[in-house]
Amino acid sequence: METIFSGIQPSGTPTIGNYLGALKQFVQLQNDYNCYFCIVDEHAITVPQDRLKLRENIRSLAALYVACGLDPEQATLFIQSEVPAHAQLGWMLQSISYMGELERMTQFKDKSAGKEAISSALFTYPSLMAADILLYNADIVPVGEDQKQHLELTRDLAQRFNNRFNDIFTIPDIRMPEVGARIMSLQEPTKKMSKSDENEKGFISMLDTPKQIEKKIKSAVTDSEGVVKFDKVNKPGVSNLLTIHASCSGESIEELEKRFAGQGYGDFKQSTANAVLSVLQPIQEKHAELMQSEELDDILDSGAEKANQAANKTLAKAMKAMGL
Ligand code: ADP
Ligand code: NA
Repeated sequence: METIFSGIQPSGTPTIGNYLGALKQFVQLQNDYNCYFCIVDEHAITVPQDRLKLRENIRSLAALYVACGLDPEQATLFIQSEVPAHAQLGWMLQSISYMGELERMTQFKDKSAGKEAISSALFTYPSLMAADILLYNADIVPVGEDQKQHLELTRDLAQRFNNRFNDIFTIPDIRMPEVGARIMSLQEPTKKMSKSDENEKGFISMLDTPKQIEKKIKSAVTDSEGVVKFDKVNKPGVSNLLTIHASCSGESIEELEKRFAGQGYGDFKQSTANAVLSVLQPIQEKHAELMQSEELDDILDSGAEKANQAANKTLAKAMKAMGL
């Protein structure tokens, strides 16, 4: 059985972008693959986090994994910092990562732009991400489009390590959803939606109330044309809403264009909000239940145990290959 690894940062509550780009795929894949889904808290601390908020976000993300339909019997759910091999292999991979290739990463450029205090960890983030994936010898990494460049670097690092030392790592392939791989900000539809956006109106959090969701979608930036048509270049706002609607309701974009032909944006936005709500409401109910239970701690403990076992095996081989 092939192996899958993917992670989400507990840097806030996941957005509908994280759901459509990542979580939804995770659930579809869990029966057919040996899956590891990680809460990548060591990635979250590459930018400042409030201690209590971080703890809360880690727990809430674990609950969301399960609430979305991940079955802890089918998939290993765990917290990155509870598996020390990640940091260790991350450091080893930093030693074969070049400044030049890390400087080319657009996520680093975006996240560091205009900031005065930039941590060195934000810069070396992709080497740690490579370690996350390579420790489990993942064959496939289901992610959104924003991670494509990082995944290419992961493949380069794996190849470089294998050539220079010994053939230890599996070279992973990326898997992106056909629709929803890049959900855009509702306020700046040329920028990707992110849970760490300072403008809260730009993203729909998976735990937003129905009122908040309706309000955010109604005030989403569109254009003055009044035509519901998919055209990423000239109508990025409308195209983004069409993508969100289609991936939430399961209709095709063409069907939606037909349905809302000649109607303006009011009804279309309401229908988009309804589609989002119908996906998020059952998840939110399950999430609330889980947050009250002790089940989560057990799931994370046994996840960490399984992950440590697998990761330590690969780490030992990689250390030996490097002469450590
Ligand atoms: P964020 O930028 O929201 O903090 P993460 O770095 O935690 O996101 O990414 C978690 C997963 O969600 C990754 O697989 C990433 O590719 C995916 N993802 C993030 N933002 C989006 C988006 N706007 N659209 C689709 N997928 C996304
Ligand atoms: Na990201």
